[in-house]
Amino acid sequence: MIRFAVLISGRGSNMTSLADAIEDYSIAAKITVVISNKCCAGINLAKDRGLPTRVIQRKNFDTQAAHEAAIAAAIHSHRCEYVFLAGYMAILSGDFVNQFAGQIINIHPSLLPAFKGLNTHQRAIDEKAATHGVSVHMVTATLDEGPMIAQASLPLMASDTANSLAARVLQLEHQIYPFVLFGLAKKNLSLSPEGARWHTPSSILADAPAPMRDSLARCLIWPASASKE
Ligand code: GAR
Repeated sequence: MIRFAVLISGRGSNMTSLADAIEDYSIAAKITVVISNKCCAGINLAKDRGLPTRVIQRKNFDTQAAHEAAIAAAIHSHRCEYVFLAGYMAILSGDFVNQFAGQIINIHPSLLPAFKGLNTHQRAIDEKAATHGVSVHMVTATLDEGPMIAQASLPLMASDTANSLAARVLQLEHQIYPFVLFGLAKKNLSLSPEGARWHTPSSILADAPAPMRDSLARCLIWPASASKE
C-alpha cells in the first residue's frame, strides 16, 4: 500500500482525480494527508471526502524555511512514501526538495521542457505550438525540471483559446496522474534520486483500467514504448 501526501493550492481537481482513481480502480494506495498553503476549494473537497487535511499558510511563519519545516513535519507525521504536487503554486526550496529526493512528483500543464512556469496554455497558443499537453516529472531543486515520468500530448486547434486548451489538457491530467500512481502501486514504476524507471511500460498501459488506457493510448508520448504497443 502506497501512502502519499497531496500538496495543493487551489481547485483540487487533480487531487480529486487521484482519490477517485484509488476508489474506482482499487489502486493499492492511500492519500494520507492533503496539505494546502492557503484556504482553497480543494481543501474543502478533500474534507468532504473524509481525507485528513492541513492548511499550512506561509503568512503564519517568519521564514520560508520555517513554513517548509511545518509542511515536512506534516508529511513525516502521516508516514508518506511519496508527495504528489497537484497544483501546488509555491516554489519549494532546494533544502525541502532534497530531503525528499526521489519522492516528490509534480504535474505540469505543458510538454516540458516547453513552457515552464505559468500561463502555459496562452503561451502555447501565442507561439503557435503544434502540440501541447501535460508532463508528470520528478521534482528537483530547479523549477519544472527533473526526470520525466510520463507525458501526454494533444494537437492545438485553430479555434483554441487558453480556456478551451486548459480544459482539454486538464482531461489528460486527470488520466495521467492516476496512471502514474497506478504504475507505482503495481511496482511497474520505480522512483529514486537517480530518476524514474518504468519496468515494462507497454504492459502497464495494456493493464491499466479501461478509461485510463483508452484516453492515454493515443497520446502518451512518455514512456515512449508504452504508446507503440
Ligand atoms: C493544473 O492544471 C496543474 O497542472 C497546474 O495547476 C492546475 C491545478 O489544478 N499546475 C501547475 O501549473 C504547476 N506548475 P487543480 O487544482 O484543479 O488540480
